[in-house]
Amino acid sequence: MAEGFEDVVARVRERATPDETERERLEAVTDRLRERAREAISESPVDADVLLVGSTARDTWLAGDRDVDLFIRFPTNIPREQLEEYGLEVGHAVIPEGHAEYAEHPYVKGEVDGFDVDCVPCYDVESASDIRSAVDRTPFHTRYLDQRLDDTLTGEVRVTKAFLKAIGAYGADLRTRGFSGYLTELLVIEHGSFRAFVEAAADWSLPVRFDPENHGSREFDDPLVVVDPTDPERNVAAALSTRNLARLVHYARELLSEPREALFEPHIPDPLTPEAVRQSVRDRDTHPIAVRFAAPDVVDDLLYPQLDRSISGMRDELERRGFQPLRTDRFADGECAVLFVECGVARLAAIERHEGPPIDARDHAERFYQMYADTEVTGPYLDSDRYVVERERSVQTPEALLASDALFDVALGAHVESALVDREVLAGEEVATLAERFGAELARYFDPRP
Ligand code: CTP
Ligand code: MG
Repeated sequence: MAEGFEDVVARVRERATPDETERERLEAVTDRLRERAREAISESPVDADVLLVGSTARDTWLAGDRDVDLFIRFPTNIPREQLEEYGLEVGHAVIPEGHAEYAEHPYVKGEVDGFDVDCVPCYDVESASDIRSAVDRTPFHTRYLDQRLDDTLTGEVRVTKAFLKAIGAYGADLRTRGFSGYLTELLVIEHGSFRAFVEAAADWSLPVRFDPENHGSREFDDPLVVVDPTDPERNVAAALSTRNLARLVHYARELLSEPREALFEPHIPDPLTPEAVRQSVRDRDTHPIAVRFAAPDVVDDLLYPQLDRSISGMRDELERRGFQPLRTDRFADGECAVLFVECGVARLAAIERHEGPPIDARDHAERFYQMYADTEVTGPYLDSDRYVVERERSVQTPEALLASDALFDVALGAHVESALVDREVLAGEEVATLAERFGAELARYFDPRP
């Protein structure tokens, strides 16, 4: 029997809402973190205040999530080097077992009592449009949302996050390029409920634009625009990929036509075995290629954009050379990275056609003829009014292309480029060995869903 939308949502809300024990545990941890931060600040020569931001500050975190975002806000009159120095000092005091990460500016990350804590220094700027780095906006976001979220809306936010997470579209990191927490909250406030939000999304035609504070005319070239209420110059959805936006539209329709809890659970496929990969390759009778190399030791927000740029450069070059790439993917874990491309053509002829000028362009035509007349090539002959030769093709297979230096002519990022110097190129059924590391990714590849 078909379930009602509201029944499904009520159950999801119930599961996504942290219970009393979880709230108390979180509160105990944040109290401790705040205390440690204040102490560290009092021992440092500059003053700063401590802010809890993000979903744990706004009561919109999902039950079971254990992520705390603590900001240390410094006065704007201290120079950047000092902000970094004292920021890291306070961060290490707050998270004794943490390590520094280098995003737009350094911050400390690590575990405290089972919670994943980020301790981020920022500047106490006048308004979000005076920011010196992206993190300076965050306290403004927190304040804006605090004034607008009530208990009902926080429940709706949790359901929305659970849905976006399940479909793989949650998280503004550059690996996912999905909806950030802040974006999700703004969209829920804008629509008033999860239901109104999915009903609207199911019917969106792109681009879609929201401007909650009516900031006005600034144009953005993105498929979804939500003008930041705290900063008219910024699109909150700038990091969202078109694919994740389309994904939301698809699953919104699916949920409305047949409401069910399964759409709030991530689909995790069983990993493929090497034999299953070989079978898929045989069934499809395509020519997959994998370029495997040691993953450069950089944060995901640097790595994934470079992998994406590399794979799209590779795809274009394979297309240009006639290998008919069907689909691409990229996989990485801590150690190993893979650029994967499935070609429709495994081998091209040993020779390729090379057209010369038409016969009546006398100078050019004579030069072309003389250049090739006494060489190994087939021809020149005439095809209609043009000279043509058939000359040896430089690469006959995609694997030869990707093993050659021609790979470095396509768009690659700095870290990926140097890591690729030492690479292994697997072709055809050889890609089956990837299943040992990336069996789940390959399962998803060979059985793709929206
Ligand atoms: N933030 C940041 N740098 C970090 C961690 C967080 O700038 N290292 C900022 C983000 O830009 C965001 C806020 O802190 O404005 C919270 O980030 P995040 O945890 O990603 O989002 P939440 O709203 O807390 O949502 P979630 O429920 O996913 O934690
Ligand atoms: Mg958070």
